[in-house]
Amino acid sequence: MLRTENVLHVLISFLQVALRSLNLGICPKLNSLVIEASSMVVLELKGCGVLSEASINCPLLTSLDASFCSQLKDDCLSATTTSCPLIESLILMSCPSIGSDGLYSLQSLSNLTMLDLSYTFLTNLQPVFESCSQLKVLKLQACKYLTDTSLEPLYKKASLPALQELDLSYGTLGQSAIEELLAYCTHLTHVSLNGCVNMHDLNWGSSGGHSLEPTVYGSYGIFSQENVHESMEHPDRLLQNLNCVGCPNIRKVLIPPQARCFHLSSLNLSLSANLKEVDVACITLCFLNLSNCCSLETLKLACPKLTSLFLQSCNINEEAVEIAISQCSMLETLDVRFCPKVCSMSMGKLRAACPSLKRIFSSLTPS
Ligand SMILES: *[C@@H]1O[C@H](CO)[C@@H](O)[C@H](O)[C@H]1NC(C)=O
Ligand SMILES: *[C@@H]1O[C@H](CO)[C@@H](O)[C@H](O)[C@H]1NC(C)=O
Ligand SMILES: *[C@@H]1O[C@H](CO)[C@@H](O)[C@H](O)[C@H]1NC(C)=O
Repeated sequence: MLRTENVLHVLISFLQVALRSLNLGICPKLNSLVIEASSMVVLELKGCGVLSEASINCPLLTSLDASFCSQLKDDCLSATTTSCPLIESLILMSCPSIGSDGLYSLQSLSNLTMLDLSYTFLTNLQPVFESCSQLKVLKLQACKYLTDTSLEPLYKKASLPALQELDLSYGTLGQSAIEELLAYCTHLTHVSLNGCVNMHDLNWGSSGGHSLEPTVYGSYGIFSQENVHESMEHPDRLLQNLNCVGCPNIRKVLIPPQARCFHLSSLNLSLSANLKEVDVACITLCFLNLSNCCSLETLKLACPKLTSLFLQSCNINEEAVEIAISQCSMLETLDVRFCPKVCSMSMGKLRAACPSLKRIFSSLTPS
């Protein structure tokens, strides 16, 4: 079957082999590929960097990973979407030769729910908004050429109504675009903004968060009945996971009850070196990672379900930690390793402040 060193014809259907999964990522010199496989479900071409001609005829294919196939062009993608209409997951990460025509061809994939376009030079996402209406997961890491208006249809025109996960990490999206996105796309459950230099303070209190009206919510507690009635006008945020790891311009994170984060369970702000103040009141939060937030000084938590708190290498002082955890009646894991102001001799004090603690990680050397 191997015609030359660089050309691979896989005619699996004729061999009557029910091959369901194939990984050709080990063939970096492959430049031409013909696959006819009637029962193939998963195909990985990851790293086939010189592959320029591919004829993929796999009518049952649901998952295609073509990341780092830098020579793959629109005509090839279009032909593939026609011959493999059941694709649900498509990874085109680092496929810089794919443009609008290729993306418009995704409309043949009526079951497409996951699309990864990370590390591409795309400037226009309109073809995605128009062609991928079922999309649940969209990954756009390090798409440095996307402009502030590229994502506007998401929050101004309610494009991609089924979208749950959005990854905009290492992008250059501006602050107001990020703010609007977070304020209006309340249906997103997982948002990643790691390494976003334009990610500024996260202030979902009365002054920030465009969709909030402090006069309506300001005086009500999170547990009050009144809020339940108001939820018709101001939908709850469905956000479960928010990752803002390594965002150098975040200084303050304020998530009060009126932010309506009734599903948030994990918040990862680690490595955000200038983060000074964290004030979170969230009844569902379980996991908070503030490791390597070396500027952290103020920590206020009203998070009754918090089980894990990571404060490794934070410069926060012991009393602030003690007060913060005293409000967390379900906290089991606390990491205070390499915290210069938290003395390893004081673990008893921390345990006393928070009797539910099961594991405290601390540095051995007293500071
Ligand atoms: C693909 O989507 C169609 C509806 O568009 C649905 O009927 C079908 O079950 C889906 N197929 C798979 C394999 O999920
Ligand atoms: C938090 O971020 C770090 C660094 O990216 C990652 O290793 C870790 O898995 C994240 N945790 C969660 C729960 O997302
Ligand atoms: C917390 O964040 C740090 C730094 O990003 C990471 O190394 C660590 O794995 C994270 N912890 C967990 C439990 O996710």
